[in-house]
Amino acid sequence: MQRPRGVGAAAVLLVGVMLAPVSLVLGEGEDGSGAPVSSGVFTAEQAEAGREAFAEHCARCHGAELEGGFGPTLVPLDRDQFGDRPLSHPFGIITTEMPFDAPGSLEADVYAEILAFILSENGYPSGPEPLPADRERLTEFVLDDPPAE
Ligand code: HEC
Repeated sequence: MQRPRGVGAAAVLLVGVMLAPVSLVLGEGEDGSGAPVSSGVFTAEQAEAGREAFAEHCARCHGAELEGGFGPTLVPLDRDQFGDRPLSHPFGIITTEMPFDAPGSLEADVYAEILAFILSENGYPSGPEPLPADRERLTEFVLDDPPAE
């Protein structure tokens, strides 16, 4: 009760440790310790907040259903570019290049919410811990395949 965040972080760490050998075999995380996005790396609240922020700041180019338009489709995310790589990669693009006409104009927290929403729309589940709004820490999360429906 007193330290739910600590417990959650320990659980994430434990999952990371358990999955480390698999990651090494697949060559996923840069140091082999990345937690797979399919393990639930954002909260449902984040994704919901991201839905509104996306509608306001991104949908006019990427489509209300993320289907693309002036900008590329974000469902599915381009696997050649983002697959089996750290989440810091798409986060870096979004925070430094998007919105295309006003790069870097949003708060880091809002960018993290938007990324959570995009991941959610790509079929990844939410989990107990929020996605960190920090590019460095996002190197610890690897974009694996979404779980089968
Ligand atoms: C004014 C139009 C516009 C807006 C608004 C915009 N984008 Fe983009 N976005 C683009 C274009 C154009 C590209 C392709 C850029 C390139 O290839 O260099 C792109 C590329 C991307 C990519 C890389 C996708 C890929 O497959 O390469 C992501 C991720 C992305 N945008 C996310 C966002 C997010 C999140 C927002 C809102 C915060 C946003 N964009 C707002 C036009 C826009």
